[in-house]
Amino acid sequence: MIEVSAPGKLYIAGEYAVVEPGHPAILVAVDQFITVSLEKTEDMGSITSFQYGNLPILWKRHNDQLVLDKRENPFHYILAAINVTESYAKEVHKQLDFFNLTIDSELDSSNGRKYGLGSSAAVTVATVRALCQFYELENTDELVFKLAALAHLSVKSNGSCGDVAASVYGGWLAFTTFDRDWVAAQQEKEQSVKELVEMEWPYLSITPLTPPADLRLVIGWTGSPASTSHLVDEVTSQRSRDQQAYTTFLKESSACVDRMIQAFQEKDIKSIQQQIRQNRKLLVNMSRATGVIIETPALSQLCEVAEAYRGAAKSSGAGGGDCGIVLFDRKEGLLPLMTAWEEKGITNLPLHVYNKS
Ligand code: PMV
Ligand code: MG
Repeated sequence: MIEVSAPGKLYIAGEYAVVEPGHPAILVAVDQFITVSLEKTEDMGSITSFQYGNLPILWKRHNDQLVLDKRENPFHYILAAINVTESYAKEVHKQLDFFNLTIDSELDSSNGRKYGLGSSAAVTVATVRALCQFYELENTDELVFKLAALAHLSVKSNGSCGDVAASVYGGWLAFTTFDRDWVAAQQEKEQSVKELVEMEWPYLSITPLTPPADLRLVIGWTGSPASTSHLVDEVTSQRSRDQQAYTTFLKESSACVDRMIQAFQEKDIKSIQQQIRQNRKLLVNMSRATGVIIETPALSQLCEVAEAYRGAAKSSGAGGGDCGIVLFDRKEGLLPLMTAWEEKGITNLPLHVYNKS
């Protein structure tokens, strides 16, 4: 039996801007995992999940037809990951086979509750890796990232794939996404998957960061779930309200995250914290300009309380609920913050950064 795990992630900075090719974000992988088990069978395959069984199939109406929103259902990512990886396997002359695939997720609770830790990315990455082992394919991080990213594109995900990168590479990362129009143009040329993954993808960069030894990441959870794909849809449709303001946001976010990356290289915790606060301001302003609520009242409280205890805090990811992150200098004691958060209904998630050995 093959068993493969992939970690969840959290955004540290650069959200929304990172959806545009070449605009940097910083992410971490966290030590909660999705595990995919795969067993060879004869004549019939199956996909089973302990956590996804009760999930609804979401649909909208388009010209009187039901249209599925595939982006919200992990089964579609699993199917897409199988499709892309098997296309690649066939191109390198592997014989396709049957298997039972079982998914066990620590990133979703059994009542379907999500923490916003990137379960659709992790399930895609774990499925791609399991199939690479099953078909005895090369299993490099770059290949797995590109196959998983192609799976995400085929589900029409509007994300940057930063979550996919964090789940593949682990640790702290600086990430800029690829030009998805370029990828689509290559696919239209009927390029094989093999040819496509062997090409260099414009604007894509994934760079490991080494944090200062005393930098401590603390995670607060608001308890309310948010849909990243819907929030990104909304920002995309509302940014034209003030195109100039959005262009400025993109530029300032890039400059802020670049300064943060430099501060990582210089091991300067004060400067990292300063950029976290700056990035929070940029996101709050962008939210005002677009009318899309990123920092909810619960996230504001999470940040304000953390700031009172000398942490640098902001919403993480798309916001609208889910988690906030706080960066501390390890000297600071954290127990008073935990108590103060509890009083405001914020839960500390006891997660650690996951580094691949
Ligand atoms: O809400 P999360 O943790 O999935 O993060 C989303 C981050 C965005 O930049 C808003 C979208 C993306 O895919 O990069
Ligand atoms: Mg989120």
